[in-house]
Amino acid sequence: MAKQEDLFKNVVSHAKEYGFIFPSSEVYDGLSAVYDYAQNGVELKKNIRDYWWKSMVQMHENIVGIDAAIFMHPTTWKASGHVDAFNDPLIDNKDSKKRYRADVLIEDYAEKLNQKAQKEIEKARARYGEAFNEQEFVSTNTRVVEYLSKKKEILERMARSLETENLADVKALIEELEIADPDTGSKNWTDVRQFNLMFGTKLGASADSAMDLYLRPETAQGIFVNFLNVQKTGRMKVPFGIAQTGKAFRNEIVARQFIFRMREFEQMEMQFFVRPGEEMKYYEYWKETRLKWHLSLGLGKENYRFHDHEKLAHYANAAADIEFNFPFGFKELEGIHSRTDFDLKAHEQHSGKKMQYFDTELNQNYTPYVVETSVGLDRMFLAVFSNSLKEETLEDGSTRTVLRLPSVLAPTKAAVLPLVKKDGLPEVARQIIEDLKWDFNVAYDEKDAVGRRYRRQDALGTPFCITVDHQTLEDQTVTIRHRDSMQQDRVKIEELRGIINKEVSMRNWLMKM
Ligand code: GAP
Repeated sequence: MAKQEDLFKNVVSHAKEYGFIFPSSEVYDGLSAVYDYAQNGVELKKNIRDYWWKSMVQMHENIVGIDAAIFMHPTTWKASGHVDAFNDPLIDNKDSKKRYRADVLIEDYAEKLNQKAQKEIEKARARYGEAFNEQEFVSTNTRVVEYLSKKKEILERMARSLETENLADVKALIEELEIADPDTGSKNWTDVRQFNLMFGTKLGASADSAMDLYLRPETAQGIFVNFLNVQKTGRMKVPFGIAQTGKAFRNEIVARQFIFRMREFEQMEMQFFVRPGEEMKYYEYWKETRLKWHLSLGLGKENYRFHDHEKLAHYANAAADIEFNFPFGFKELEGIHSRTDFDLKAHEQHSGKKMQYFDTELNQNYTPYVVETSVGLDRMFLAVFSNSLKEETLEDGSTRTVLRLPSVLAPTKAAVLPLVKKDGLPEVARQIIEDLKWDFNVAYDEKDAVGRRYRRQDALGTPFCITVDHQTLEDQTVTIRHRDSMQQDRVKIEELRGIINKEVSMRNWLMKM
């Protein structure tokens, strides 16, 4: 655990030291759970967004994008259920005065039971080797059966209590399980209360005429209210999707863990409109397709898992998370939700405007059902960044810090380094930059010894370093160094664009899906 905490601390400090993420308004000591993306962070974030957008919009004939406003008519949030139901159950510890999400305390307890079961399974795997039958072991080993059934029982009871608003039972569950304040160990809890997560604001100059608004807590509603506009102007036929990326805001009760849970964050969402009755088919399709997208980045299959929801949001009839193995354990990265016709029907009811689609094949009007995929851009950033940060011991015993980012996402694709600051080498390096910058984000660096410059680019995640030396002046060749293998090859300057492109082009990465 201590090791994991150290790793996470490294992630946070590396992000700051190398210009990826700064605490917001740091000169005033920052603002809790709000962060700024710095010069390298903004490039990595943009590349993740582009990678998502291309795979969704460019690669699907039947998916188009929009960019709806953050401010929406306040009735939107009444209709969507967010005014009445977008709550988290909070609980305070009377001794430490710390506030927690009651459901998260219980889920963490359940996860510990899961980890105990996994430990038994791994021990048995090591003991029986090839002959190990995991399925049989999980269903017959008394300890594993006990851990997993207790976990299931706890999560089901919590889901039932939350669904029926039985907050007294949520507290009773915390007490029965003897869950303590993770920071202090105290078990002295208040009652559980509901807390609405939306930020309110006002629109208008005078106090009398000002209108109460909310900052959107999800981007999805901008898509729902534009559903017919897009369908008609784009002549879209069900099944079709609308994609959007943009800011969302939530007054999170517990906003810790760096950019994992922020109060201002960015979502990448896609609503897929389908015929009623076909939603489960598309729900399965999008679960699989989104996992493939994640896997295409090469962060390791073992770092992902599905978690099917026991406790469904007010709009869903099925939901699953794609969880990622963050430095603090497996947590939600993306949600895939079957949202039924809840949102379109609710907007129809509250606006008095029809939100139906005429299906020419069926010769029938209906309200489409919706399957949604929703991934946090900041969480994707954290997943990619934390997974890529490595401390490596080299053959000569020295160490290096390297950010093994998927090269398609790297902020800078190549750094061009003149070996020395004289003899015409900087001029040649500048010419190479002039040529490459039309296609790639490239950097020039002439400060310090070349070995130190390599290390700096490794820590920034730059896939290639191109070194211009005296031989370059004679035969127009340079060395190209690969970040991960540190191998150096001598190549012609005119070959550079092709070599870099092969490694970083979105086409090549997305084709792995
Ligand atoms: N439209 C559905 C929706 O908003 P959600 O599960 O509440 O569903 C979707 O959020 C995704 O948005 C999450 O999987 C997560 O990646 C991201 N997300 C949610 N709250 C966040 C927060 N406070 N900070 C950063 N990312 C967040």
